[in-house]
Amino acid sequence: MADSIVKLAPSILAADFLHLGDQVSQAVQAGADRLHVDVMDGHFVPNISMGPLVVKALRPVVHVPLEVHLMIEQPMRYLDAFAEAGADSLLVHVEGGVNLHRTVQHIKALGKKAGVVLNPATPSSAIDEILCDVDLVLVMTVNPGFGGQKFIASTLDKIGRIRRAIEQSKRTIELEVDGGIDAETAPSAVAAGANVLVSGSAIFGAADGIASAMNRLRNACLPIVPS
Ligand code: DX5
Ligand code: ZN
Repeated sequence: MADSIVKLAPSILAADFLHLGDQVSQAVQAGADRLHVDVMDGHFVPNISMGPLVVKALRPVVHVPLEVHLMIEQPMRYLDAFAEAGADSLLVHVEGGVNLHRTVQHIKALGKKAGVVLNPATPSSAIDEILCDVDLVLVMTVNPGFGGQKFIASTLDKIGRIRRAIEQSKRTIELEVDGGIDAETAPSAVAAGANVLVSGSAIFGAADGIASAMNRLRNACLPIVPS
């Protein structure tokens, strides 16, 4: 089971970009533990989103960690740029022929936290040999590329397997989930072992506002989070 209270990582992909500063401030004031920045290149995933400029613009005004989720081919080419822009952690997918060990070591050499990300069809065994080198594992609970998709419940078993592997490692490694996370789905992800929740649409798209949505997510998970 997770070793701490569940953390929230609002994904700015779902924010109103015309008012990004205001939206992000609301999320931070409402207790966002970090901000999740989705980077897409139109190759690794079908969509194109944002690059280091957005991280650089947010950095001076955001006083929580900025987590950069790289859904791009050849992530090594861009690690330095995102680090210089002010990212605190860099998350790379295990798919796509990446030299994962070299990439993770480079992230750590930049002084940043390193995370590895698994797509829904990628087995937990894909990270067996890198687990002890990373600060975070992110399990995609949708296929990456777009916000607002439906949570894939068959990923829950994998979350459980990775939680057990983390416990066996005796290391402090966070286990994060991303995609389709709302007050309905979050409890099952936390029960399976996740301790960080990425959420975009359910937070920035909520009719009753960002703070209410974040409270709803936290409250939904409270009964199953160890105190
Ligand atoms: C999907 C991204 C997610 C996305 C989640 O490819 O990695 O971070 O923003 O959005 P929701 O919470 O709307 O599924
Ligand atoms: Zn993401």
